[in-house]
Amino acid sequence: MSARTTPAAVVREAGAPFELLPLGLGEPRADELAVRVEASGICHTDISVAEGKFGTPFPIVVGHEGTGVVEALGAEVDGFAVGDRVVLSFDWCGHCRNCVDGRPTYCYENWPRNFGGGRLDGSTSLELDGAPVHSHFNGQSSFAEHLICPAHSATRIESEIPPALLAPLGCGVQTGAGAVLNALRPGSRDGLAIFGLGAVGLSAVMGAAIAGCELVIAVDPNPERRALAAELGATHTIDPGADDPLEAIRALAPDGLQFALEMSGVSAVLQQAISTLAPGGTCGLVGAPPVGTRFPLDVHEILSFGRSLRGIVIGDAVPSRFLPELVGYWEEGRLPLERLVETFPFTEIDAAIEAARSGRVVKAVIEMGGAPA
Ligand SMILES: NC(=O)c1ccc[n+]([C@@H]2O[C@H](COP(=O)([O-])OP(=O)(O)OC[C@H]3O[C@@H](n4cnc5c(N)ncnc54)[C@H](O)[C@@H]3O)[C@@H](O)[C@H]2O)c1
Ligand SMILES: [Zn+2]
Ligand SMILES: [Zn+2]
Repeated sequence: MSARTTPAAVVREAGAPFELLPLGLGEPRADELAVRVEASGICHTDISVAEGKFGTPFPIVVGHEGTGVVEALGAEVDGFAVGDRVVLSFDWCGHCRNCVDGRPTYCYENWPRNFGGGRLDGSTSLELDGAPVHSHFNGQSSFAEHLICPAHSATRIESEIPPALLAPLGCGVQTGAGAVLNALRPGSRDGLAIFGLGAVGLSAVMGAAIAGCELVIAVDPNPERRALAAELGATHTIDPGADDPLEAIRALAPDGLQFALEMSGVSAVLQQAISTLAPGGTCGLVGAPPVGTRFPLDVHEILSFGRSLRGIVIGDAVPSRFLPELVGYWEEGRLPLERLVETFPFTEIDAAIEAARSGRVVKAVIEMGGAPA
């Protein structure tokens, strides 16, 4: 039996609707926190997972851009106190070679910990009518008023940044800004093209502005998003429905670009991103089509031009370092997250998902407003 209940948005099977139900919630284990969720962003990955495109088990509570207040600590947790304000991010093991080297987004246990639907031992923190509901999605399952998460997924934040702006830092903003600031690290004279201007792509645009890139080309069929990209720091925008992006980019940079980022999740766009590169350039693959997607590539597109193609997970971030850095950029007015966000009450999660899916809202954020336990 669970100690208490929490309202949570359950998806019973692939493609099923989000159902707001009271779920049983367990106690935090020795290395976990209990958090009262104040807000959670919706990332496109939540939608893909709910549709069954990532092979995660069901029933499940997704959501992985949570922020809230610590309400209980496991016995062995250091560095947090009840009442701390935290923003949540992904789970990692802390002892594999990449975690030890400070690259937790490439933890050897990344997939089972973040997409396995529970703790590594197979247990979950949620139940419905006595049956387990999958939890710990990306270390949190934040479409709920209360959750249990590994303590190292949480970062303490002391800023006055509103919850609705803090929440999306944990995935979408960190992913986009980090792809530029941590992974590609362009110099001011490098050219960068960003394909796909959702929260991830627009955060990459803001990251490129922070990096001081002189040539930032933003590509998306959505005219509002192109206009927003131009205001946030893109020097040029391209409508792929009207112009061939490759030709348009060659007109701006005849030798090609040093960097390109695929952030649309449309696998055919990856070919365009690679083809825009100058010899020796690097394409970062961030957009996530369904697991199993195959991509036909002429080997010489990479080999003969000395180009690189690399996957980038959650912006190569170390969240405990990068999330406070991003909050600092927001405080300085260099990361105007309020331009991206629209809030919805938790009871209107269906409208929030639809706003994100249709592209009407860049970053839909649900606000919980639940009472302290
Ligand atoms: N690698 C990671 O760690 C990571 C983390 C978070 C999200 N993601 C993935 O990143 C992608 C973007 O996430 P989001 O939340 O910003 O999604 P989103 O759906 O809001 O944005 C995708 C954008 O791509 C645009 N697009 C569609 N067709 C295009 C085309 N032909 N050319 C250029 N743009 C096109 C859409 O108009 C939309 O604006 C998703 O696939 C998501 O699953 C990856
Ligand atoms: Zn995400
Ligand atoms: Zn690890």
